[in-house]
Amino acid sequence: MAKQWRGVIAEYIDRLDIDRSAPVITLGEGGTPLVHAPVLAKLFGVNEVWLKVEGMNPTGSFKDRGMTMAVSKAIAHGARAVICASTGNTSASAAAYAAKAGIKSVVLIPEGKITLGKLAQAIAHKAHILQVQGNFDDCLVLARDLSENYAVHLVNSVNPDRLEGQKTASFEVFDNLGFAPDYHVMPVGNAGNYSAYFKGYLELQRDGFIKDLPKQLGFQAEGAAPFIAGHPIANPETIATAIRIGNPASWDLAMKAKEVSGGEFDTVTDAEILWMHRYLSNEVGVFVEPSSATGAAGLLKFAKLGKLPASAKIVITVTGHGLKDVGWALKDEHGEEVKPTSCSKNAAEVAELLGLERNT
Ligand code: F0G
Repeated sequence: MAKQWRGVIAEYIDRLDIDRSAPVITLGEGGTPLVHAPVLAKLFGVNEVWLKVEGMNPTGSFKDRGMTMAVSKAIAHGARAVICASTGNTSASAAAYAAKAGIKSVVLIPEGKITLGKLAQAIAHKAHILQVQGNFDDCLVLARDLSENYAVHLVNSVNPDRLEGQKTASFEVFDNLGFAPDYHVMPVGNAGNYSAYFKGYLELQRDGFIKDLPKQLGFQAEGAAPFIAGHPIANPETIATAIRIGNPASWDLAMKAKEVSGGEFDTVTDAEILWMHRYLSNEVGVFVEPSSATGAAGLLKFAKLGKLPASAKIVITVTGHGLKDVGWALKDEHGEEVKPTSCSKNAAEVAELLGLERNT
């Protein structure tokens, strides 16, 4: 019988802050593909590029790595309900893991600002969904307040169990490649994931597996770029709704990760994000939601500025699946709706329509 990946807690139990006897709530998260992408290496003028395709997690985003830890520990603490603020992916994940655990989930989302796919996931997993008249940052303040004063367990990334689970992505990159990349690149919203990768790489270095830490490059959407402004932003705006965040919760951790790893933060425009979103699905075969293309879009900007050495080996995390936000994929590069061509059932007519040559 073929072996099945057991989820990040079972696979990395020796390296996670959790009791061996603790309950494990898992949906088989982690073990995601590291897709070799020579097309991107050529585009960026570097040696090697791989995509860590986190959309292949059970609920379609990297959040599941942290949620298995957070919900397992919530159960160990006797919690009967979990709560999170979310731009969509955390809520989908929290709702699914709470369903698996048989407890209640409450999700607070910014009104009108999450994609239908993500909303459908929270509904499907029977979350109690509240649309807050405010943005993600307002939702997080409310979630923290409720969890501090009522019987509900917070599973946002301010809960250290989340980052502890998410650090396993660094372990997988090392296990797959046998070395750490020169650069690790990703989108940054609340900065939890950026901080979690750093934690993972730092532990790999501490344990003697790697000598140098990857330089971590984190990219934000231009209209939601507090790290580049150097202060929180009151009204973040971007089409990349997953990272529409003005006051990142993991500010200090991320700043430290940037400094110690020798990394950088920078911005990309919504147009650059959408261009890369299309390029990844058209040319690499990897369909991600627009926010998830932010890291690769930033790398193209850096390549054009001549900031990337030709010898560089780079891993880019693409954070969420394209099916979560299909609206942008259904439009062409001019913003026009793409409609499949209608045709008859006649083979000769269809062949002509397709410009196919007849076999000789
Ligand atoms: N990419 C996707 C697809 C996300 O959903 C998020 C965050 C990020 C990147 C940024 O990660 O916050 O750790 O820096 N989504 C959160 C949510 C905020 O509620 O789903 P981060």
